[in-house]
Amino acid sequence: VDPLARVESLLAETIGLDASSIGRRALESSVRTAMQSSSVETIDDYVASLARTAELERLIDAVAVPESYFFRDVGSFDYLRRFARDWRGGVLRILSLPCAAGEEPYSIAIALLEAGLAPPQFRIDAVDVRASAIAAAESATYRPNAFRGEEALRVRERWFTPCASGFALAPHLRETVRFRRGNLLDPLLLAGETFDVVFCKNLLIYLHEEARQRALAQLERLLAKDGRLLVAPSEMVWLQANSGYRRAGDAPALALRRHPVGGQAPPPVLPPMRQARAPVAPQEPTLDHIRNLAGSGQLHEASAIAHDFLRTRGPSDELLALLGLLAYARGDEAEGQRLMDRALYLNPQNVEALTFLALARERDGDVEAAARLRGRALRAEAANA
Ligand SMILES: C[S@@+](CC[C@H](N)C(=O)[O-])C[C@H]1O[C@@H](n2cnc3c(N)ncnc32)[C@H](O)[C@@H]1O
Repeated sequence: VDPLARVESLLAETIGLDASSIGRRALESSVRTAMQSSSVETIDDYVASLARTAELERLIDAVAVPESYFFRDVGSFDYLRRFARDWRGGVLRILSLPCAAGEEPYSIAIALLEAGLAPPQFRIDAVDVRASAIAAAESATYRPNAFRGEEALRVRERWFTPCASGFALAPHLRETVRFRRGNLLDPLLLAGETFDVVFCKNLLIYLHEEARQRALAQLERLLAKDGRLLVAPSEMVWLQANSGYRRAGDAPALALRRHPVGGQAPPPVLPPMRQARAPVAPQEPTLDHIRNLAGSGQLHEASAIAHDFLRTRGPSDELLALLGLLAYARGDEAEGQRLMDRALYLNPQNVEALTFLALARERDGDVEAAARLRGRALRAEAANA
C-alpha cells in the first residue's frame, strides 16, 4: 500500500481530514516536514512511528490549516453582541471550536466586553486539536496579519499593546478564555457540558463526508437546546442543505439554530426589516460596512449599498463574492452562483468564492469538482496569508 495513502487514512480517521481538500502535494510536504523533525529516515519507518501519539500529534500539527484572524466574518461578532445584550439566561456559555491560536475566542471576549457584559456573566471555552495552536493562544501575542479589516484594527488599538513579536493582548483578557486541546470528533470531548453559542467556523470544509456527520452529531450534543451555531458564510450552504439547522430568525446571515423536529424547513427568506436601523452609513461606505450590515441581518441595505458600489466603482472580485453571498442569503441560489463565477473570473484566487462553490458542488454530488475547488481555496488562502 502507498505509504502516503496510509497517512491519509490515519488523518481521515483521527481528525476527519479530507486529504483532497489540502491536495496531495501539501500532504507530501507536511509529511516531509514532520519526518525532518523526527528521527526516522524512510517513509515506511515514518508511517510505523505514527502509532506513537507524539509522532501523530506532530503530523497533525504540520498538516492542519491554521489560518485565522481577529473578527473574521465581522457580522458574527455583531450578532453575538446583540444576542448577549438580550440574554437573560444566567451565565452565557460560549464555545469556540476550532479556536486556532486564539484569534476567534479572544474576539468573542472583546465583543462581549464591548457589549457591556462583565467577565462573571460569560464563560468562553476554546478548543483546537493542535497543541501548538493552544500554546500560541495562551501566549496571546500576534503578528500584524492577524488583524485584517477596520474592526480588527480598531480593536487592536484598544485591547493590544505593541511588543517585539507584534501585538500582545491585554493580560486581563487572557483570563477570560479557558483553552484546552481536543478533537471535535472525540465523543468524550467536553462531556456533560453544553453551550449557548458555539462558533464552529472553517473546520467543516476540511472534513470528509462521514467526519462531517460525526462533527454534526457532536455539535448537536454540545449545543444547548435553544443555542446558536455560528459558521463561516460558505459553510452555511452545506449545513442548511444537510442538517436540521436553519438560519436563526433574528440573524439571517451567519447564525443557525435547530429547526424543530418534524417541522417544515422554511425556505430562505428575507428577514423582516428592522425598526432600528443600522448606524448611519459613513460617507464612503466600505466593503466591511456592507459585510457588517449583512451579518446583522440587514440584507436589503447591504444589497442596496453593494449594488451602488457596483454602479459607481465597477466590479471587483471581493464585491462580486459579497453580492453572491447576499443573493444566496435571500434565497436566489442561481444568481449567487453566477456572481461567484464572475468573482472567480476576475480573481481565480478569491477564497470566499472558491469555498462557496466547493460546497455548492458538493451539495450537487459533484465530489471531484468540490475537491478541486477546495484545494484551490486552501492554496489561495495560504498564498494570501
Ligand atoms: C482554518 S482554522 C479556523 C479557525 C477559526 N475557527 C477561524 O474561523 O478563523 C482550522 C482549525 O481547525 C483545527 N482542527 C482541524 N481538525 C480539527 C478537529 N478534528 N478538532 C478540532 N480542531 C481541529 C486546526 O488545528 C485549525 O486550527
